[in-house]
Amino acid sequence: MSTKRTGTPLVEMRDISIAFGGIHAVDGVSLDLYPGEVVGLLGHNGAGKSTLIKCLSGAYQADSGEFWVDGKKATIESPIDSRDLNIETIYQTLALADNLDAASNLFLGRELTTPLGFLDDARMEAETRKIMARLNPNFKKFKEPVSALSGGQRQSVAIARAVYFNARILIMDEPTAALGVHETEMVADLIKELKSQGLGIFLISHDTREMMDLCDRVAVMKNGKLIGNERVEDVTEDDILSMIIMGKNPKKAA
Ligand SMILES: Nc1ncnc2c1ncn2[C@@H]1O[C@H](COP(=O)(O)OP(=O)(O)OP(=O)(O)O)[C@@H](O)[C@H]1O
Ligand SMILES: [Mg+2]
Repeated sequence: MSTKRTGTPLVEMRDISIAFGGIHAVDGVSLDLYPGEVVGLLGHNGAGKSTLIKCLSGAYQADSGEFWVDGKKATIESPIDSRDLNIETIYQTLALADNLDAASNLFLGRELTTPLGFLDDARMEAETRKIMARLNPNFKKFKEPVSALSGGQRQSVAIARAVYFNARILIMDEPTAALGVHETEMVADLIKELKSQGLGIFLISHDTREMMDLCDRVAVMKNGKLIGNERVEDVTEDDILSMIIMGKNPKKAA
């Protein structure tokens, strides 16, 4: 669970702000992420968690602030910019095409073709089986449309897609919110697997317990501001709750 925060961070967000009308959805937030690290974002509804990671994923353009990826200043003005930096986002409402099978979803928009330019279904299925064998060996439903999959299985298809396309930074916005206990455990196992492979993960969840189990660090936001950014071994669940509720970091109290 402990992280070596040495070397160059995968990502550094520096002083990111974005406002909608008069609302400072994200207000001067700085946060970094190292390889093999899971950083959890916690906070009440409307705290600014999704907005912050949408700036990183290029869905929104930050009004000010800087992104640094692998020690280099990066321009993120669109989802394509973000993806080009090997940042992949998995939203709770997964963008999967229900009527297509796992392989078609994995390669959606980035299909493999034969030398003659035809869709190479056999190779896409073989690649999908290969990556699933690594990520979720119990996955067997390769021939069925993803509408026939459970929530956890759908998550694993979305995660496989990100990993296949060399994601190094994975953003997961409430990946387990709609899942049952067993499915949630499956996604937790996937997160641990990706972490062991050196990916950096930003994870958003409202489940403080789950976050303390899965994350190396937790960052708490309130009203757009970063209240705390602490290694899990340095805080108690109560510390985190007081940051979420009171907007005060007991670790910083004089
Ligand atoms: N596109 C938008 N237009 C206007 N306001 C927005 C937009 N997106 C977010 N906001 C506002 O920004 C603030 C932060 O919202 P955000 O979705 O980031 O919160 P959150 O921490 O992810 O909350 P939740 O836990 O409910 O998902 C809220 O006040 C929200 O209403
Ligand atoms: Mg949100």
